[in-house]
Amino acid sequence: MVKINVSGCDSFVKEEQYKQYVDKALAAWDTLMSEQGAGNDFLGWKTLPEGVSEEELSGIEEICKAWAAKGIDLVITVGIGGSYLGARCAIEALSHNFAKQLKRKAGDAPDVVFAGNTLSEEYTSELMDLAKERNTACVVISKSGTTTEPAVAFRIVKQYLEETYGREEAAERIVAVTDAKRGALKTLSTQEGYKTFIVPDNVGGRFSVLTPVGLLPIALAGFDIRAMLKGAADQKSEMYSKSEANSAVQYAAMRNLLHSEYGKSTEILLCYNPKLTYLAEWWKQLYGESEGKDGKGIFPASVTNTADLHSMGQFIQEGSRIMFETVVSIDKSAREVIIGEDPQNLDQLNFLAGKNVEHCNKMAQLGTKLAHIDGGVPQMEISVEKIDEYNLGSIFYFFEFACGVSAYTLGVNPFNQPGVEAYKKNMFALLHKPGYEEQTAAILKRIGE
Ligand code: PA5
Repeated sequence: MVKINVSGCDSFVKEEQYKQYVDKALAAWDTLMSEQGAGNDFLGWKTLPEGVSEEELSGIEEICKAWAAKGIDLVITVGIGGSYLGARCAIEALSHNFAKQLKRKAGDAPDVVFAGNTLSEEYTSELMDLAKERNTACVVISKSGTTTEPAVAFRIVKQYLEETYGREEAAERIVAVTDAKRGALKTLSTQEGYKTFIVPDNVGGRFSVLTPVGLLPIALAGFDIRAMLKGAADQKSEMYSKSEANSAVQYAAMRNLLHSEYGKSTEILLCYNPKLTYLAEWWKQLYGESEGKDGKGIFPASVTNTADLHSMGQFIQEGSRIMFETVVSIDKSAREVIIGEDPQNLDQLNFLAGKNVEHCNKMAQLGTKLAHIDGGVPQMEISVEKIDEYNLGSIFYFFEFACGVSAYTLGVNPFNQPGVEAYKKNMFALLHKPGYEEQTAAILKRIGE
């Protein structure tokens, strides 16, 4: 379960002001819970922790078993944005840091790799090098079924699977996660007989990690999705209680206060474990797409320490005073490495002998917090006991719920993303997509061709 500590902001804000913002966040909590706010047709994520049916969960587990029986050792997961980041975040957080370099053992879950989140030709081509060495299957995820990047990648992967295994066997090695009724991917799945899972109509992409969009790839990678849903459900019980102590209310209140009254326009999500780097990527999409509209919003950025203390540390300590930090802190490390004594002590590190590496990490975390506060950077802390499926489920639900509360506090609709269409129109015009002839002529004139 997620705990919050906002005391690292105390010296920056007035208590009275914080109380006012807690009241605003509580009013936003009412809006979210009464389902009367903007975008209220996209609130399906609220009940997902208990809303994923037993049929869906067993369906996911059956795919895991069926593909294990075929000896599949590589699953290419095709998707972008909300149809990708949650699964990648969980898989990176839960996997061995060197899973790619360690030798695979009998019974290991397949390696889950990602495609469709880039139009890099090298990435796509090098991915196919890997597919050719492995026993490969594919999960294709697109709610709309029409997003260009995953559609291009899926066409390439599908053709490879059909050429390699035959059309009938390829159909058994492809699972689609898409809309229940609409879209090109739904039509193709029906035609080819792919097993499909549904992205509910009332769940937007960036809120979909606890649907099969996230759960299927996470389960295929060998992780316990039932524990993840349990963590989310327990977090939901806390989020549903209206109180000044509610961690989502506190988070929403403090970030809006720092932004609106103190000009803190950037929030840095900070972690001290490289496994959590993709948690920040998932969080950036969630908050960036939900709040960055109508000329408003806090810019979501991230760093992974201690590495980034040696790159971004200078700016955070002494650069423009535009930011505050939110640390995702993990109470317990899953492993212990004790620093040994060295008789020569040439590196002068014997003062650390007998201490574990995590102790040094925690002191770096505390030292950084104090230094950044001294340097004018307020800091909040979100903490969980350890990195596992249960706590990740809690973190997912916490940040989603807090995002709804925070965006309503800010006064924007958290559940739309009108701005993401602008680049697509230009790209389609430049690619001469049928139906875009007028835009193509206009854009070619604009760029002088
Ligand atoms: O959060 C969102 O809505 C977006 O990031 C989408 O998930 C992303 O654009 C992919 O869309 P789709 O699943 O329709 O391919």
